[in-house]
Amino acid sequence: MSRGDGEAIGPDSVGVRRGQALSWPGVQHVLVTGGAGFIGSNFVRHLLAARADVRVITYDLLTYAGSRENLRDLPAPGRHLFVQGDVCDRAAVDRVLAEHAIDTIVHLAAESHVDRSIVAPDAFIRTNVTGTFTLLEAARAAWRGPAGLRPDVRFHHVSTDEVYGALAPDDPPVAEGAAYAPRSPYAASKAASDHLVRAYATTYGLPVTVSSCSNNYGPYQFPEKLVPLVIVSGALGKPLPVYGDGRQIRDWLHVEDHCAAILAILERGRVGETYHVGGGNQPTNLEVVEALCALLDARYPAAAHAPHRSLITFVADRPGHDRRYDLDCTRIQAELGWRPRHGLADGLAATVAWYASSGAWLAAIRDSDDYRRWIALNYDGRDDGRGDGRPREAP
Ligand SMILES: NC(=O)c1ccc[n+]([C@@H]2O[C@H](COP(=O)([O-])OP(=O)(O)OC[C@H]3O[C@@H](n4cnc5c(N)ncnc54)[C@H](O)[C@@H]3O)[C@@H](O)[C@H]2O)c1
Repeated sequence: MSRGDGEAIGPDSVGVRRGQALSWPGVQHVLVTGGAGFIGSNFVRHLLAARADVRVITYDLLTYAGSRENLRDLPAPGRHLFVQGDVCDRAAVDRVLAEHAIDTIVHLAAESHVDRSIVAPDAFIRTNVTGTFTLLEAARAAWRGPAGLRPDVRFHHVSTDEVYGALAPDDPPVAEGAAYAPRSPYAASKAASDHLVRAYATTYGLPVTVSSCSNNYGPYQFPEKLVPLVIVSGALGKPLPVYGDGRQIRDWLHVEDHCAAILAILERGRVGETYHVGGGNQPTNLEVVEALCALLDARYPAAAHAPHRSLITFVADRPGHDRRYDLDCTRIQAELGWRPRHGLADGLAATVAWYASSGAWLAAIRDSDDYRRWIALNYDGRDDGRGDGRPREAP
């Protein structure tokens, strides 16, 4: 069967055709997997505020990365429900889809931290691959109608630029449809889940959309990732670990812009399509850390450890650390009119301000056993990258 635009993507009994833009009719019952995590909780908040006609069910296992604290102060709590559960648990997923008449799934639940995937990849294969497979099977069963799969449903899968592997300095941005070349267990597990989602569209006609996004930052990000780690450690006067030479290049996107992009894809995206989502910037990691240090200097000018850049500590690089990612976002801009609203400088300033005013939220994480264990495991004993094995103080 041909798979060009406008061709059916599944068996004849399936009503949805590739490239068809489905309007989002009536009251929607949206399941957000991983909705208690960083992007998920921001998306739940964004969706409830943007659409009065949705009910949102957050389905989340509450691993170390998820917390009900992230879902405090929702804009319309009466239209939100939290269900604790595992995406790998088929019976529990079947139950939540049936009990809440779910017609839209936004799948964000994942193990998401590359460093953890290097130390312990098992959980990544389980949640990201088996979990996505379980959710796809459950959706396929729940959305079966008399004439094949219902066309008024949607499975949106959230993926990452890391599936494409590393770019050289002069490589052009990667467009949708480029070959995958994942290089970490995290990226490989996300690539596998993307392939499964697309296979369910082709084989069974499941109405899917996929978004692949660059590095997010913003409120509620667990402080193991670069931006919150630097803000939190810098405010406490602890070392700011920078991997290798700090010249790895990422594209950075404020999480609110990512949430707006997911909603635009749900509302106006073409079924079967993948959309790249990025911030259109290319700073080095060191430049991001230095920008955060300048913001911390401005906020805490009298700190004993100012200037904060004096806290920068180069540590041994991550094994196989990808040098550069860059996404071509022409499709989502041209088709859906989406553009990021936050510039990197403004977005980082707002993020520093949010962390500075979220002491109780942070303290709960920093006091947790898992966080302490992870920081000790990942940073204690790392040398400074010169290979002399000399440990540095953990952040
Ligand atoms: N953070 C980024 O920069 C970024 C960039 C691009 C794509 N993504 C993707 O976006 C999604 C969300 O990322 P994030 O940064 O918010 O991650 P996160 O780690 O902050 O949150 C993940 C959430 O999933 C939940 N979860 C984990 N295992 C689960 C399971 N088995 N069943 C149910 N829930 C489970 C966790 O409790 C947590 O609430 C992921 O799929 C990730 O791959 C993230």
